[in-house]
Amino acid sequence: MPSSPLLPSRPSLLDDLAHAALARACSAFRQSGSESFALPPVLVDATLGNGHDAAFLLSCAPPEALLLGTDIQPRAVHAATERLAAARQERPDCRVQIFCRGHQELPQIWAELPPEERQRPLLAGVFNLGWLPGGDKSCLTRAESTLAALDFLLERLMPQGCLSVHCYTGNAGGPEEEQAVLRRAAALPPRRWRVAYCRDANREDSGGRAESLVLMERLPISRREMRVAGLCQA
Ligand SMILES: C[S@@+](CC[C@H](N)C(=O)[O-])C[C@H]1O[C@@H](n2cnc3c(N)ncnc32)[C@H](O)[C@@H]1O
Repeated sequence: MPSSPLLPSRPSLLDDLAHAALARACSAFRQSGSESFALPPVLVDATLGNGHDAAFLLSCAPPEALLLGTDIQPRAVHAATERLAAARQERPDCRVQIFCRGHQELPQIWAELPPEERQRPLLAGVFNLGWLPGGDKSCLTRAESTLAALDFLLERLMPQGCLSVHCYTGNAGGPEEEQAVLRRAAALPPRRWRVAYCRDANREDSGGRAESLVLMERLPISRREMRVAGLCQA
């Protein structure tokens, strides 16, 4: 086999697929012409961790976007804030707000935003479940709180927006959490949503190496429907 340079372990193949789907949503927003939307969008990283996904979101965010990030661990919030510091210099037009709170509190977090920010459309959301790499493995996401956050974001997601959930079956409760996310995603009406599911095919659940990705894209609607929903200007 010819020798090749080693690839870094992160982003993984599934991380890259998630990023491609999120970038697609950002690019659709840009192509529609930001000026046709009433307000710049919100992007959410519901599991900040070390901030890789948040930094990616910020790099492809439409102009003047608002990036919201949540994590329950101060250590993660610190790491993500550091990683985002450089990314923020590249995107001074965007605003970043980080919360050391569980993503199940997103409804309250949203309600506490200034009125104009609350009106912004939600364009993208990312979950990378499980524990903080290199951190406390007992502090990990749980199906119940993940679903609470996911439901809130699903309800708010704008047409052509995308939610991505990277699941791990190796964690305690991981298989159940993956199944819960998948059930929710699979129940989305196909007339309004495109849902894709991609899973390791050569790794076992037991022993816990299998990972999967659930991508939920809200399908486009007509300009008239967009106006009625208050998403674009008359
Ligand atoms: C796999 S890591 C995320 C990796 C991260 N997206 C990155 O790019 O580095 C999962 C994170 O979820 C966080 N977490 C666990 N339960 C949470 C909750 N209820 N709300 C928000 N974050 C949570 C953990 O603290 C951990 O940092």
